[in-house]
Amino acid sequence: MIVLDKENNILTLHTKNTTYQMKADQYRVLTHTYYGPRVDGCDLSYLVRYADRACAPNPDEAGEDRTYSLNTIPQEYSTCGVGDYRLPSIELELPSGSRSADLRFTGCEVRRGKYALEGLPAFRGTGEDAQTLVIRLEDAAAQVEVELYYGVFEEYDLITRAARVINRGTEPVRLCQCASLCLDFPGADLDLVTFDGCHLMERAPHRAPLRPGVQGVGSTRGTSSHQHNPFVILCGRSADEDHGLCYGASLLYSGSFQALAEVSQYDSTRLVMGVNPWHFCWTLAPGQAFTAPEAALVCSPRGLGEMSRQFHRAIRAHLIQDPLEGRRRPVLINNWEATYFDFDAGKLVDFAKAAAPLGVELLVMDDGWFGKRDNDCGGLGDWYVNTGKLPGGLEALVPKIQELGMSFGIWIEPEMVNEDSALYREHSDWAFHIPGRPPVRGRSQLVLDFSREEVRRHIYGQIKSVLSSADVSYVKWDMNRSLSNVWSAALPPERQGEVYHRYVLGVYEMLDQLRRDFPHILIEGCAGGGGRFDAGMLYYTPQIWCSDNTDAIDRLRIQYGTSFCYPVSSMGAHVSAVPNEANGRCTSIQTRGVAAMAGTFGYEMDPGKTTPEEKEVIRAQTAFFKEHYDLIQRGDYYRLTDPFQNGPYTAWEQVSPDRREALVSLVTTALHAAPSFQTLKLKGLDPGLTYQINGGDTFPGSALMEAGYPLPLFHGDYQSMQLYCRAI
Ligand code: DGJ
Repeated sequence: MIVLDKENNILTLHTKNTTYQMKADQYRVLTHTYYGPRVDGCDLSYLVRYADRACAPNPDEAGEDRTYSLNTIPQEYSTCGVGDYRLPSIELELPSGSRSADLRFTGCEVRRGKYALEGLPAFRGTGEDAQTLVIRLEDAAAQVEVELYYGVFEEYDLITRAARVINRGTEPVRLCQCASLCLDFPGADLDLVTFDGCHLMERAPHRAPLRPGVQGVGSTRGTSSHQHNPFVILCGRSADEDHGLCYGASLLYSGSFQALAEVSQYDSTRLVMGVNPWHFCWTLAPGQAFTAPEAALVCSPRGLGEMSRQFHRAIRAHLIQDPLEGRRRPVLINNWEATYFDFDAGKLVDFAKAAAPLGVELLVMDDGWFGKRDNDCGGLGDWYVNTGKLPGGLEALVPKIQELGMSFGIWIEPEMVNEDSALYREHSDWAFHIPGRPPVRGRSQLVLDFSREEVRRHIYGQIKSVLSSADVSYVKWDMNRSLSNVWSAALPPERQGEVYHRYVLGVYEMLDQLRRDFPHILIEGCAGGGGRFDAGMLYYTPQIWCSDNTDAIDRLRIQYGTSFCYPVSSMGAHVSAVPNEANGRCTSIQTRGVAAMAGTFGYEMDPGKTTPEEKEVIRAQTAFFKEHYDLIQRGDYYRLTDPFQNGPYTAWEQVSPDRREALVSLVTTALHAAPSFQTLKLKGLDPGLTYQINGGDTFPGSALMEAGYPLPLFHGDYQSMQLYCRAI
């Protein structure tokens, strides 16, 4: 609910459990007064305190009042160069060459439903479930207007934000920074949690108390990156899974980003998140506008677990657009780790023949089907079927797969080109290159300039004709390197600062086109595993390959970290062969299945090479997954242990919304002789109900949650179990 007190310029956003408030003060500066647990009917501006502080400049309007300084007042959208020395949200370069921004409130309005952002991903909402607040600010000297957008999803405690900057003047203005989110807190007694890692080990949570000064994460790679995720948490020092105040901030952006927190000299905190200002400068001609990507906030007064569940619910209901519209997604098998580039139509048909009787429903043909692509040194950019490998093209292959009762999916990497390709020989200037500098390769490939329409059009035309040639129901969109040598032949020198962002807009545009032309196709995002796992991509691709690391034990950590923002249904996870290709570890097929069921669930191995016993297990796994699909993919997710604590096991749980069903999964990760007895406390059950476990013993919900379930003594490395709990 949005409440406007126009007389006093107090703007309040209420969700079910939280309140967010702003007030335009006597000088029309938009102050941020409060964000936290719900407070009703109150002007919270008493929280904004004034004192005569040394070295704090006073704006002209304040006259002799030295207690009024932008440097100490909590700002809704921070400015720069006019008295606030903390992190700016916006920086303008005016025709004079001066760099500053000074914003004053001019008005606001409430709209039914949720705003959309042209060309950018954003949560979707209707008049039934969302409201929009638009706030207008002006920089009179610069003749620039800023619109701040707020989407309020009451049910999910979710507030989205975006900003739009419009040049209302008669001369061009350069935008040097334009954040999506600025959030000021009165104290500094908070921890910052970031999700960091590398290729093969993505999104490990790192939590540290805030300290004076600036701290944070970002990416300069042109992708959101394996290294740091555009999702951060600020939480109370003692907040844990079930208690404490937590703020999660997720940026819906798949390019270079920045998320910084600053603790000021007087122990207030500011969080600023948005497109990375490094290598960013956008020229706004008179009348032109720039839109900053959306950021989504969840405040949970009840710990990190509830914060995550609210994100999961909101992402599933209002961000992801699933072409299957609520129907179950198929269990897939992907040939990559089993064959790499060494496959042909015969091998794929054999895969399908072996996989279909095991309950697998979709065959995904990975990298290597196009152009001249026998290794990762050539072929990218030539999106036509290699008929040496697939005689008769997809037209011949797909019906054979379908006759076996399976559907068909395909891998693409549209943003890339190899020098050894027909495309590069014809259009070498379409790859990013800085004039005078030698090429910088990654995985032997170069990045196409997707800021250019003709480049996108050419690539999309090829891909569209492949996808139109047969009944394709799934596409894996991969992206296997970070950007470098970024310079566009299509833009003049003074506008090269737009290229990184225009590249992302180009990717979004093509994804949108793909979705519109092939609305029935399920797209899985991928970037060398989880190099672009962000809420922006989830708007276009309902699932994203979590990591190239398919080892079940490492995946426990990767999926745990990912779960802080992103739902199970978005995490691409497969059972692969052992020894695992990433780390050589061997785990049982049961354990690999349990780990993959914390994600979308599928296989990535040669089914023909499995033993009869393994086949039996796979059949049971696919049947179990299908039977409990709703619970696994749409249930409320509870982290029961932290795999980074090196405890004896890692456990998690999915609970149905009516709390009558739950699935507990557990994998042992440390083994010792003479183990102690362990009990596992479940969460989220109805204490008043009695649950039957795996069709056997019964326990009251209260006993399972308060006293715990008695775990057996495990014997052997990496054992696993699943407890299916049903209320009786
Ligand atoms: C990286 C992906 O993450 C893998 O799953 C696979 O598709 C390869 N690229 C193919 O080149």
